[in-house]
Amino acid sequence: MKKIKIMSVFGTRPEAIKMCPLIKKMREYEEIESIVCLTGQHREMLQQVIDIFQIQVDYNLQIMKMSQTLHSITTDILTLIRPVLEKEKPDLVLVHGDTTTSFVAALAAFYQQIPVGHVEAGLRTYDKYAPYPEEMNRTLTGRIADLHFAPTENNRACLEKENIRDHVFVTGNTVIDALQTTISPDYQYKDAALAAIMEERKGRLLLVTAHRRENLGKPLQDICGALREIVSEYPDVEVIYPVHLNPLVREPVHELLGQEERVHLIDPIDVEDMHNLMDRSYLVLTDSGGLQEEAPSCGVPVLVLRDKTERQEAVDAGTVVMAGTKKDDIVRLTRALLDDQEQYQRMSRAVNPYGDGRASERIIQAILQYFEG
Ligand code: UD1
Ligand code: UDP
Repeated sequence: MKKIKIMSVFGTRPEAIKMCPLIKKMREYEEIESIVCLTGQHREMLQQVIDIFQIQVDYNLQIMKMSQTLHSITTDILTLIRPVLEKEKPDLVLVHGDTTTSFVAALAAFYQQIPVGHVEAGLRTYDKYAPYPEEMNRTLTGRIADLHFAPTENNRACLEKENIRDHVFVTGNTVIDALQTTISPDYQYKDAALAAIMEERKGRLLLVTAHRRENLGKPLQDICGALREIVSEYPDVEVIYPVHLNPLVREPVHELLGQEERVHLIDPIDVEDMHNLMDRSYLVLTDSGGLQEEAPSCGVPVLVLRDKTERQEAVDAGTVVMAGTKKDDIVRLTRALLDDQEQYQRMSRAVNPYGDGRASERIIQAILQYFEG
């Protein structure tokens, strides 16, 4: 029997966190030959995930540069992936989500007339600059893709509006598959700095991440200003902020928050440390897409440091609130959750609109069905 050769292409931390459970699951199917090509859009932050999930990497294009541009990411991947596709001739290329890696890998596969499967398809804000460039990356990838794995019914409906109706499968989000393997009650932190903070911590913990391209500059300064105000007002509050390795994030964040006593700036932590930390936090403030999906299923309220979200489900369920990036708004909304226990309890109900942890299995079944049919 000829196996279906599936090449998974990804290159950043969140793609890896959400693709690794699927790649591990594919190992269980003898009908599938699974190969992995990293673009290396990220380096250290990608490797952390590969190490945790113990994924075998067949190719790594290693394109990351310090202060890379959208142009360099695009052209480097497009050029370097071509010989890999020509050599391997996969039956299907799988990409994930909305990064430039995803869009360019899909485009490269299309140029060679190789079918594309899009994992985490159909999320939309309908504003091409928010998130930037992710909204456009995801929309263009959806246009190219032959199979669409939509996490929710709402995502399927978004695809339908764009006349994408064939081979659309509602699968849940593979991030829930990942979460089910990482959190444990007696977890010991691996990162020494984090372990020490958690050992000594007394008060309520705010977990913060902020790194998006559209938040660089003034919005990020405002976010930092809001955090300073909150810790100075609440002596029982501590902030842990694992800072993205982008120098355009690190420099202002360390400059503005480096001296604050109860603000702990740490390096990016691996996904097991992160999920367990999130599970023990009082509140999450973030501009990340992934954290908006993960925290609600841990019952931890989220303030989203953006004006628009492509993940409306948890907002509708009442556990995620859009805070934007203005200092006064962030302070006001955080205060409300620190002061008003009734509101806090309402928001900290665990809800999980993103599936039951079996998304990988559903994606594989859909792929098998596609190739049988
Ligand atoms: C990228 C994705 C974004 C995703 C995010 C997840 C694009 C355009 N952006 O944004 O959609 O939400 O990843 O984190 O696809 N760096 C390191 N080491 C690393 C990773 C990054 O040093 O392991 C530094 C490099 O200087 C690099 C910079 O961070 O140039 C920015 O990386 P880049 O992938 O361009 O942007 P992100 O903001 O990470
Ligand atoms: N994450 C992590 N370590 C960190 C920060 C984030 O493992 O120091 C995880 C987080 O739990 C989530 C994912 O990385 O699963 C989100 O990645 P990121 O914020 O980089 O990208 P986005 O979700 O915005 O695309």
